[in-house]
Amino acid sequence: MKHPHDPFPIRSFFLIITIFTLFGIPKCLCQDGRYVSCGNVYQCGNIQFRYPFWGGNRPENCGYPGFEVNCVSSSVPRITISSQQYLVVNSPDITANTVTVAREDLFNNICPQDPKDTAINFTIFNPSNTQNLTLYYGCPTITPPPLFEFPCTTNGNTTANYFNMLGSNQGITIPSGCDRIITVLVDQDAVRNLGSSAGLNGVLRAGFTLKYEAENANCLRCLQSRGQCGYDSGSFVCYCADRAYTRECNGTAAGTPSGNGMYDFMCY
Ligand SMILES: *[C@@H]1O[C@H](CO)[C@@H](O)[C@H](O)[C@H]1NC(C)=O
Ligand SMILES: *[C@@H]1O[C@H](CO)[C@@H](O)[C@H](O)[C@H]1NC(C)=O
Ligand SMILES: *[C@@H]1O[C@H](CO)[C@@H](O)[C@H](O)[C@H]1NC(C)=O
Ligand SMILES: *[C@@H]1O[C@H](CO)[C@@H](O)[C@H](O)[C@H]1NC(C)=O
Repeated sequence: MKHPHDPFPIRSFFLIITIFTLFGIPKCLCQDGRYVSCGNVYQCGNIQFRYPFWGGNRPENCGYPGFEVNCVSSSVPRITISSQQYLVVNSPDITANTVTVAREDLFNNICPQDPKDTAINFTIFNPSNTQNLTLYYGCPTITPPPLFEFPCTTNGNTTANYFNMLGSNQGITIPSGCDRIITVLVDQDAVRNLGSSAGLNGVLRAGFTLKYEAENANCLRCLQSRGQCGYDSGSFVCYCADRAYTRECNGTAAGTPSGNGMYDFMCY
């Protein structure tokens, strides 16, 4: 029997209903959307970020507070720690829970306008294998200039500036009366090669390593139960394929509803 005016969309609708009734709702519709997005790796340049870092394709609830990453010029990852900007110089080690960062202001220019001490949030970061290096800006000159001097030129005026080398400045004392003295964290191994102002640039670009604490033990347990780590409403959560749990998949359900809302009732 032919029905020239039979509306095709209605027939398709009943066809889909029939397929769903026979074979069930596709599994992918039932996955918790947060489980999927928190499994994303945020790639910036050749550096990859997973939990506790968030940014880009990793929503805020996929990371821990204080670990937001911005990808500058689509290739350079930046993290802000205690209001200071740092560049992440290689992919964080999610087994050792470490990240290596370098001061952004000193990365290309060891003579910034307004140099400040390295600031670290010790609640979430613990410097690992680091050394303090002191930089002295705008100092009285020493003649002849020692190896640990570096020049800075502002508006045509060149100033004398020094860095201390583990207190072994060949017996030369840095004169008092410098305009600005700052302390920066550097890598202990890199600083051994520090002998000149060119070396100073390299040491500042190499950065230093921070061990991070972002409920690492909870995250390991969650990952081992095939979940994805996250953080929501002030506490750690483990996102699993079906829903969110407080610690690990198939454990105690977390209070928040799962990401798919209306589809949940159709899952089995
Ligand atoms: C340090 O990190 C903790 C945890 O993310 C945060 O609550 C605190 O505000 C941070 N402190 C500073 C000075 O940024
Ligand atoms: C670096 O200096 C700060 C104070 O400016 C101090 O708290 C810290 O212990 C020093 N770190 C090292 C590795 O010497
Ligand atoms: C450069 O140095 C001269 C002489 O010390 C000073 O008068 C002038 O203000 C300086 N210029 C700047 C931009 O600091
Ligand atoms: C989750 O828990 C239920 C009930 O305790 C158990 O039957 C099921 O096998 C568990 N599933 C997984 C993936 O561990």
